[in-house]
Amino acid sequence: MTPSHLLHLPDLQDTIAFGSHLGRNAQPGDIFTLTGDLGAGKTTLTQAIGQGLEVPPDFYITSPTFSLLHEYPGRIPLYHMDLYRLGSMEEIEELGFEDYLYGNGLTVVEWPDRLEELMPDSRLDIHLTLINEHERSALLTPYGDIIPRFSSFFHRNTPFLNKI
Ligand SMILES: Nc1ncnc2c1ncn2[C@@H]1O[C@H](COP(=O)(O)OP(=O)(O)OP(=O)(O)O)[C@@H](O)[C@H]1O
Ligand SMILES: [Mg+2]
Repeated sequence: MTPSHLLHLPDLQDTIAFGSHLGRNAQPGDIFTLTGDLGAGKTTLTQAIGQGLEVPPDFYITSPTFSLLHEYPGRIPLYHMDLYRLGSMEEIEELGFEDYLYGNGLTVVEWPDRLEELMPDSRLDIHLTLINEHERSALLTPYGDIIPRFSSFFHRNTPFLNKI
């Protein structure tokens, strides 16, 4: 069974620290799928991942609502997709989605359930839950060969946030 790890994010700074850590450790071809309700913090986490990837601060990361995909320069490229408004799987093909997945950057996908059968086998899934105004939790579930690369998250006795 896939190991999952629940991370407590008491306030925005914790989410930023978590995202920055993810961004600093990401390698070309990594994929993070971000799930959770509207307002849970998926785009906010992506902004922090961008900080960790050294995306220049003059690039403000927002949800790519109309284009579905935004690309940002950083230590490695960041491909940010928000598929909430995806109309059809043909749009994914037009987007050249698979070229990005197997490209040289980190891909972050909001609303990845829209991918259906194109859901990548290897990815780190992060499910955000809104607890109250400032508090969130993140359930991390690795799939495929991403596990060894982010294994630090899954050691029970090494609380992740203490290591930042
Ligand atoms: N601990 C926290 N972690 C993340 N966001 C937080 C936290 N506390 C407060 N927030 C706020 O919650 C909001 C989250 O909005 P955000 O756009 O990131 O959500 P989203 O999951 O991307 O929503 P959508 O599904 O509409 O794209 C932001 O205004 C952010 O500042
Ligand atoms: Mg969003």
